Amino acid sequence: MKYIVGNWKANKNNAEATEWTKQFNSAILSNKGIQEKLNSNKLTVIICPSFPQIEVVNKLLIKLPNIVLGAQDVSMKEGGSFTGEVSAASLKEVIRFVIVGHSERRANFNETNETVENKASQAKGQTIEPIVCIRGKDDTIPTAASFVAYEPVGAIGSGNNEPLEKVLAVKKELALGEKKFLYGGSVNPQNVTQYLQSSEIDGLLVGGASLDPASFISLLDAV
Ligand code: PGA
Repeated sequence: MKYIVGNWKANKNNAEATEWTKQFNSAILSNKGIQEKLNSNKLTVIICPSFPQIEVVNKLLIKLPNIVLGAQDVSMKEGGSFTGEVSAASLKEVIRFVIVGHSERRANFNETNETVENKASQAKGQTIEPIVCIRGKDDTIPTAASFVAYEPVGAIGSGNNEPLEKVLAVKKELALGEKKFLYGGSVNPQNVTQYLQSSEIDGLLVGGASLDPASFISLLDAV
């Protein structure tokens, strides 16, 4: 099974999310190859819009096995009087996966390893699979993480994807146990094959190339 995660970040309003989903649905409907990979558990697609657009996409998204929604963040608090927070308990009604500890959150919103661990365990406690992003071997891997996404900061949004050999060298230094291993950082239809061909890589976390349905579909085609 390969997991392709689309991280929309703070992009797309309702109209844009609707348009993306319609184009995505019709591309999947006319693509027997992708349908076959989904039905035979070779591919899981995890689409992660901003919070308000999760429900917009959910209502429209084609109902096929292994096409699911995720969130980009979750509260480290269980719920209650925490204005502005979104609890795992409220998210679990719509999503099965959540990205936690993205380097953009660590850098811009002061998330520490401790925050990330608390968020991951809140998610797991509500049966949401945490996809924990790490920048390298020095970031803590929470026990609750189901997926570890290695995303070297310099590779994110830069066009400078990290070559497979370097990614695998970092993976060797991690204590992953049973956790699945994803790579993220400037993955696009031109460079995706090297990662997909490696049995060491369980999937990819994709930002920029997930925003356009056609390039996202090209990634799924490459699986
Ligand atoms: P990118 O983003 O694919 O645009 O580099 C990846 C990420 O930040 O998750």
